[in-house]
Amino acid sequence: MTRPLIDSFGRRIEYVRLSVTDRCDLRCRYCMSEQMQFLPSNALMTFAEIEQLADALIDRGVRRIRLTGGEPLVRRGIIDLVRTLGARIGSGLEELTMTTNGTQLPQLAPALFEAGIRRINVSLDSLDPERFRFITRRGDLSRVLAGIAAAKAAGMAIKINMVALAGLNEDEIGAMLRWCSDEGFDLSLIETMPLGAIEEDRTDRYLPLDAVKRRLEECWTLLPSTHRTGGPARYYQVEGTRTRLGLITPLTGNFCAGCNRIRVTATGTVYGCLGREQKVELRDALRSGGRMALDALLDELIAGKPLGHDFKIGRADPAVARHMSVTGG
Ligand code: GTP
Ligand code: 5AD
Ligand code: SF4
Repeated sequence: MTRPLIDSFGRRIEYVRLSVTDRCDLRCRYCMSEQMQFLPSNALMTFAEIEQLADALIDRGVRRIRLTGGEPLVRRGIIDLVRTLGARIGSGLEELTMTTNGTQLPQLAPALFEAGIRRINVSLDSLDPERFRFITRRGDLSRVLAGIAAAKAAGMAIKINMVALAGLNEDEIGAMLRWCSDEGFDLSLIETMPLGAIEEDRTDRYLPLDAVKRRLEECWTLLPSTHRTGGPARYYQVEGTRTRLGLITPLTGNFCAGCNRIRVTATGTVYGCLGREQKVELRDALRSGGRMALDALLDELIAGKPLGHDFKIGRADPAVARHMSVTGG
């Protein structure tokens, strides 16, 4: 390995979230506005550029890559990309994962498994068809459930991501945990983060997870777990089940001190932090094919990686203007 990526706070960057598209077939209310402007497809990094970047990152010590979007499975030809990146598993790369809304999994799950994805995170904020449609503005719950079943049948380990939303799904969190434990899935609960303008004030939907946890503990015993994925979640083993409950608490329990990641947008911009503007543009360096230029930009990014985000409870305006779908979370 050439020089590892270690930032000015001594944090080693071993994990990259790589967005392959800003597009999505859903419009979750907490994530996107109904009227989103998406990038033209010729603005996206080509697969060859993504592979070149992935190789440089692996060479600099990155061990895990998570493909994100938007919705990664709406990028045309995505299985080809997964297959070529999957071929790096075992030679530098330890794990290739994906975060998806699940709508394309009914057709794509077997090919994804075969291409190297063994663990997948699926966003699912409600098990009620009408609520699911309301939250996603256009989602068909039965299709997502069929997708999750297809991923399970293909052999993937599944984690459900549920954004906890006051007045929308807060009364369903217990039912979701029950369903996940019946299915053998992990569950991550997420506090809504102020990224990008949407139609509503996110503070109206904000639900602190410490209160949610206390409510769950009336029915379940949650044992603190040492399980770590390198992600922001703190995990609890749900006693009597195989399910781990993850709590992602950017607002009530900042986890930035242990950050191990950077995030690449579909156009080749790299952000040092989800909630900050610090970035470098890799596109020209990738186009010219020069490894030295790429390394210099990565060094610049890592040297300036912020200590953490600046999300605040009760702040109505977004902390940063870009939506989660641009940086893939
Ligand atoms: P694994 O731990 O590998 O399973 O993944 P993950 O939970 O990090 O990834 P996933 O894509 O499922 O993201 C779940 C939630 O965590 C999303 O809302 C992400 O935006 C959020 N998240 C992931 N990484 C970070 C981070 O570095 N900072 C913040 N604030 N949120 C993050
Ligand atoms: N705050 C918290 N989570 C969000 N997600 C999308 N937008 C937000 C937001 N503003 C979640 C999705 C998905 C993951 C990548 O991020 O539900 O599970
Ligand atoms: Fe799409 Fe995920 Fe955003 Fe929902 S949260 S609109 S599924 S990118």
